[in-house]
Amino acid sequence: MKIGTKFIHAGAEPDPSTGAIMTPIFQTSTYVQEAPGKNKGFEYARSQNPTRKALEEALAIIENGKYGLAFSSGVAATDAVIKLLSPGDEVIAANDMYGGTYRLFSKVFEKFGIKFIYTDTTNIDTLQKAISSKTKLIWLETPTNPLMNITDIAAVAVLAKKTNAWLCVDNTFASPYLQNPLDLGADIVMHSSTKYLGGHSDVIQGALIMNDPALREQLYFIQKSCGAVPGPMDCFLVLRGIKTLHIRMQRHCENGEKIAHWLRNHSNVAKVYWPGFTDHPGYNVAKKQMRGFGGMLSFTMKDDSTAIAMKVLSSTKLFSLAESLGGVESLINHPASMTHASIPREERIKNGLTDSLIRLSVGIEDAGDLIEDLEKVI
Ligand SMILES: Cc1ncc(COP(=O)(O)O)c(C=O)c1O
Repeated sequence: MKIGTKFIHAGAEPDPSTGAIMTPIFQTSTYVQEAPGKNKGFEYARSQNPTRKALEEALAIIENGKYGLAFSSGVAATDAVIKLLSPGDEVIAANDMYGGTYRLFSKVFEKFGIKFIYTDTTNIDTLQKAISSKTKLIWLETPTNPLMNITDIAAVAVLAKKTNAWLCVDNTFASPYLQNPLDLGADIVMHSSTKYLGGHSDVIQGALIMNDPALREQLYFIQKSCGAVPGPMDCFLVLRGIKTLHIRMQRHCENGEKIAHWLRNHSNVAKVYWPGFTDHPGYNVAKKQMRGFGGMLSFTMKDDSTAIAMKVLSSTKLFSLAESLGGVESLINHPASMTHASIPREERIKNGLTDSLIRLSVGIEDAGDLIEDLEKVI
């Protein structure tokens, strides 16, 4: 199946009891058994739920993987991956990534003896130098949130294999429409399904997709033992979101491109971070591993003061000031005080995330209206 057909039909079988074309929301906590151990494959809803099962099958299909697992949030999915590790193990992660991932690593897991090494993953030599015999996991985000840095997934996958470490890629920004890390050699793909997969800013959810059955068993064990599972209504919403992912992403990409170029040509704008510019340091890698450049971008103003940034952030009308991204509606965000506030300021600034950086999640409205909205303010 080609990508659009796949997104619409992934995991969708008519309900065997009624023929319902849409997967029903199985709002139940348990299942009646004929005799102890004799059941229809469902025992208790933390372990199995038919709506979740349909979604997990869909997740696997859209990421070209064998197995999918759904979690109650993106960070719950990340949490499950780190629980594969033991005290003394080392993780290499990007020095520019979603602030909540950094917080989970540094504030929750470090105290259990797992060591996190933050480095510039876009530079393979630098990354290689950070690897040791204790490296068990390489954690990539590409494009990164919010600086849109690009890492060569296939090159890192080669390094990970040599090191005997797992490679997990947070594919939230690209979505499976633009990038499939398993095809490039990654072991696990992670999503905040809250974003493009759901697509309508009405659900919090996470996902993991993998090919290795042994890895799937370990992650399923963590999913049911730790219990961060999504409810059936939320699974239904993400299943529904996936059906229009390709159409939405096409428009996100078109609008993102128009706005990136418009901003770049504006005399009051200093720098625009968007991987579709031919002079973006990650352009060639992005072109190789992605099918488009997406609708996420960040920028700074020429008057690089926090006061000006704050004025821009609170003056747009169509771009709503809010955390999150990937919904049909456009959002504007201040990473320093919102999505990335949990990263110490010094650390942030060192990695290029300044106090005046503004991030846009370009929605699928008419680009002309979005540009008009920005024009009034910028
Ligand atoms: C790139 C990225 N990864 C992970 C997450 C965490 O996902 P969630 O908010 O669904 O827990 C986010 C949330 O913003 C994100 O942007």
